[in-house]
Amino acid sequence: METFGATCIASPSDRTESGRAILHENPDSSGSLGIAISEAVEMAAQRDDTKYALGSVLNHVLLHQTIIGEESLKQFEMADDYPDMVIGCTGGGSNFAGIAFPFIGRKLRGEQDIEVIAVEPANCPTLTKGKYAYDFGDTAHLTPLVKMHTLGSTFVPPGFHAGGLRYHGMAPLVSQLAADDIVRPRAYSQTECFEAGVQFAKTEGIIPAPEANHAVKATIDEALVCKREGTARAILFNLCGHGHFDMQAYTDYFAGKLYDQDYDESEVAMALAGLPAVSAG
Ligand SMILES: Cc1ncc(COP(=O)(O)O)c(C=O)c1O
Repeated sequence: METFGATCIASPSDRTESGRAILHENPDSSGSLGIAISEAVEMAAQRDDTKYALGSVLNHVLLHQTIIGEESLKQFEMADDYPDMVIGCTGGGSNFAGIAFPFIGRKLRGEQDIEVIAVEPANCPTLTKGKYAYDFGDTAHLTPLVKMHTLGSTFVPPGFHAGGLRYHGMAPLVSQLAADDIVRPRAYSQTECFEAGVQFAKTEGIIPAPEANHAVKATIDEALVCKREGTARAILFNLCGHGHFDMQAYTDYFAGKLYDQDYDESEVAMALAGLPAVSAG
């Protein structure tokens, strides 16, 4: 970004009320997507020349991303095939929804069945361990409330390399589909995901982003199930980003410096205890 003239400030920063409050409480805070969103929204709200554009989570962003799945449908048509399963990693939900929703649409209309797997990091397990409730999209509570799977807006996940998956909540549409058992969530730790990513790179010549490694890991696991069972299944997954910005992560992995740190369950309990009280009517 700086190459193209931007100035980058790491969050939490001392430039905003939200950032300063976090740093006051914890000067060594590793930050989170929830905190960065609070800082960005605060800046945008205070300046006439600045707008905030959402990258993920809200439903309209997911729908924009469905071009990924629409293209995949066409590619399968060209191959005269159809996937038995679709897999994506989930941070806020947009790359996952992007690839999966066109297929889920067909499934819900009774046109063609498919299994759908959402993969998240074990130390920010929003769909597998979170609560389905109304919560804020950011840590400083500047956003509207959305009904979603959440670990609590004040929860700061431990630092791990798939930074794009360190979000406490999940898009409302993805949350609803998980609650309805149409999307099956699962969680993996980062070292097993890097192992899968390295295997993928050696096989395909593409180094995936740490986030994408979660989908790669689930895809390899599902392919191994097929191998064990002697079944042939077409598995579609989203390689949502390359890892060229993440060479440090791979360097750390090869140096044996990556480890799996458990998230603090008491922190999640505290964050969930602070969920906003919402009543109908
Ligand atoms: C490469 C990559 N994949 C996935 C994500 C997760 O976001 P989402 O779940 O919204 O697609 C991010 C977020 O920064 C990312 O950088």
